[in-house]
Amino acid sequence: MKLVVTGGAGFIGSCFVRMALHEKWADNVVNVDKLTYAGNLENVQPVAEHPGYSFVQADICDGVGMGELLEREAPDAVVHFAAESHVDRSIHSPAAAIHTNFNGTFSLLEAARRSGIVRFVHVSTDEVYGSIPVPYEADEKFPLQTSSPYSASKAGSDLLALSYFTTYELNVSVTRASNNYGPYQFPEKLIPLMISNALEDRPLPVYGDGQQVRDWLFVEDHCRAVHAVLKKGEPGEIYNVGGNCSLPNLEVVRRILQATGKPETLITRVTDRPGHDRRYALTNEKLTRTTGWEPRMDFDTGLRVTIDWYRHNRSWIDRVKSGEYRRFYELNYADRK
Ligand code: NAD
Ligand code: TYD
Repeated sequence: MKLVVTGGAGFIGSCFVRMALHEKWADNVVNVDKLTYAGNLENVQPVAEHPGYSFVQADICDGVGMGELLEREAPDAVVHFAAESHVDRSIHSPAAAIHTNFNGTFSLLEAARRSGIVRFVHVSTDEVYGSIPVPYEADEKFPLQTSSPYSASKAGSDLLALSYFTTYELNVSVTRASNNYGPYQFPEKLIPLMISNALEDRPLPVYGDGQQVRDWLFVEDHCRAVHAVLKKGEPGEIYNVGGNCSLPNLEVVRRILQATGKPETLITRVTDRPGHDRRYALTNEKLTRTTGWEPRMDFDTGLRVTIDWYRHNRSWIDRVKSGEYRRFYELNYADRK
């Protein structure tokens, strides 16, 4: 099988590319990535010399370029991860999220339709369901209720992807995963930011009361789910992917401090995120029933593996914390005193 994977230099996409080649899910993987601040070719270094791997630096918003690429490569499937993926960045500068997540998905879908691509998996998020009151869990029919420009742009792109099935019979499935964690995650999201700050004895900035609840999914479990959907998912169907691990943020931060042997005095309460969703919760029942997929990694083991990775890859953290990272960090946390 030959795959075009978009966003394969990012956190989840690079894990998918590494696993696709190591686990022999595909013989050929073409990694298409613009290399934004979040894209890093070091993330795919372990497969860089694999004979089935190739890299194309390109912007998914370039419709003509995507059309030419899919004609030239003629893959069996497109697995679409590329996105502006950070809620706080989408709040500070929404244009990039709207452009990449919506227009970029549009140009890829259009290129796929025109070049007769056989299969398309659109990778999305449980954030499209918005904040879920206790005791409910979102299934795939749950109403969409987005709060941030990020989640709105992803919900829009999900609907667009599904419209390409309904209107053009493009064989599209949509996955909606919960919060991922694991090695190679850019240290702007909760878990890698808190690990990297804890390792450097810097304050751990908890938004608001820290009682917001997220479901945590180890990145390899997510990639196995995307593969299961690629192989067994039905056209026009949506599949939730959750880790069966619901925790309040403060509890996640405490476990990170415990595992790194750092004091709780590093926790710093900062001003809450505007429009902050209180609770995400979803059920995996459909994915498990239809593909047999289940999450394998328990949270404490996954957290230990992740912390060990960051401990042993301090130079990776130093390199990704470039001037651009520091500029955003200062912008995001300056007004959160
Ligand atoms: P990431 O920010 O780590 O990586 C995104 C990648 O996309 C980067 O390599 C970047 O260079 C590339 N990219 C961005 N804009 C591009 C463009 N215009 N053209 C080509 N490439 C571009 O993101 P991630 O955390 O790996 O998320 C991957 C996907 O999974 C996203 O679609 C995201 O919405 C979804 N998702 C993420 C999570 C999570 O917890 N991180 C949870 C559920 C779903
Ligand atoms: P994040 O990793 O940005 O993912 P998302 O917003 O997509 O869920 O944030 C996870 C949770 O952690 C969210 O409730 C916001 C909170 N958070 C903090 O409390 N402090 C931080 O510095 C960050 C980045 C997030």
